[in-house]
Amino acid sequence: MSEAVAELETPWQAMFQRLLAEPGPRAEAAEPETRLDARVYHDPQRYHAERSHLFRRLPLCLGHADQLREPGSILAREIVGLPLLLVRDAQGEIGVFLNACRHRGARLVAEDSSTCQKSSLVCPYHGWTYALDGTLVAVPLREAFPTLDRAERGLMRLPSTVRHGLIWAVLDPQLPEPDIARYLGPIDAELAAIGLGQHRFFRQNAVRRATNWKLIVDAFMEVYHVKRLHSGTIGPFFSDSIAIADHFGPHQRMLVARDQLGQLRDQPPAQWHPQLHGTMVHLIFPNTILIYHPDYVSHLGMFPTAPNETLFVHTMLTPDAPADERAKAHWDRSFDLIDRQVFHDEDLTVCEQIQRGLVSGFGQDFLLGRFESNVRRFHETVAKALGQHGAPPQTPPG
Ligand code: FES
Ligand SMILES: [Fe+2]
Repeated sequence: MSEAVAELETPWQAMFQRLLAEPGPRAEAAEPETRLDARVYHDPQRYHAERSHLFRRLPLCLGHADQLREPGSILAREIVGLPLLLVRDAQGEIGVFLNACRHRGARLVAEDSSTCQKSSLVCPYHGWTYALDGTLVAVPLREAFPTLDRAERGLMRLPSTVRHGLIWAVLDPQLPEPDIARYLGPIDAELAAIGLGQHRFFRQNAVRRATNWKLIVDAFMEVYHVKRLHSGTIGPFFSDSIAIADHFGPHQRMLVARDQLGQLRDQPPAQWHPQLHGTMVHLIFPNTILIYHPDYVSHLGMFPTAPNETLFVHTMLTPDAPADERAKAHWDRSFDLIDRQVFHDEDLTVCEQIQRGLVSGFGQDFLLGRFESNVRRFHETVAKALGQHGAPPQTPPG
């Protein structure tokens, strides 16, 4: 195969060529500075608009199907105020249900940080029993409900699908099953090229942190902070603020340069890879971030629970299951470094500090520089998606 043909075959080469053309930390130098009205992070009206117009309408990525490996695997988790059950049924299909009994609403499975195994779902209150596909199969003292039609009292199912191994759901039972290939646009082919569907679930940490969900997204959409905030951890591995970015509809893609960017020129372009020779990041609107590390992928989900609180779910996906204890120990160490030291102790700690400073009521605005244009674009996309519901104004004049 000629090199010219090979060049056409990897989706990453044009991105790397653009990255190599950057002479210094001036990515997107044509971008203007902008101001951001900080009320978007704490205004209650804005928060309610985001919940109803983004999180209850758009497809959300709730996890990886490999976390529910066996039939009967169940994960109970509250997402944006809704108690949900993610279930792999006896036929191997994954469904997303409201974790609420159709008798009088009790939770069928207590929320836990990890999956459990069950052959059916038995309500703890009066014992109504559901099959794993949500069908109501048994009611104690059935004669108490002479008009009950079991077919009408199955668990409330939410529209969901699995694509690239990821579980996507829309948190409104009236809406149709999401068409994820269409929603992702060109990013669909990139997730396929990376092989996310073949990845394995390795570890997850789901923690509520006292910050608005958008402050966390912001922190993963710019590299201006990486050499400073992360100077004692991952900072030395990266170049200072050299990255290229693209946007596809509401979604974004960023390729961040490592410190050894120049060595790329010694490699055949067909071998340039966004995990080995740079770090690629996808933002799938509104709240999914995928970070491609050299030998694993971080999937981040930011699920707001209040204007100033977010359930932050970090999942580590590995290309294979660990072959032995040594491989497992290696990935455990990687997870501990990136999840605890980098994400929680550095990024999220700063986000919480910012959030605490926002309640002063001083009418702050933030200044976004030329290397923070992805942050600006993200906030513009949120405001656009909210339309007239997006009060307060996102960018005041001046
Ligand atoms: S609420 Fe579930 S059986 Fe009564
Ligand atoms: Fe960071």
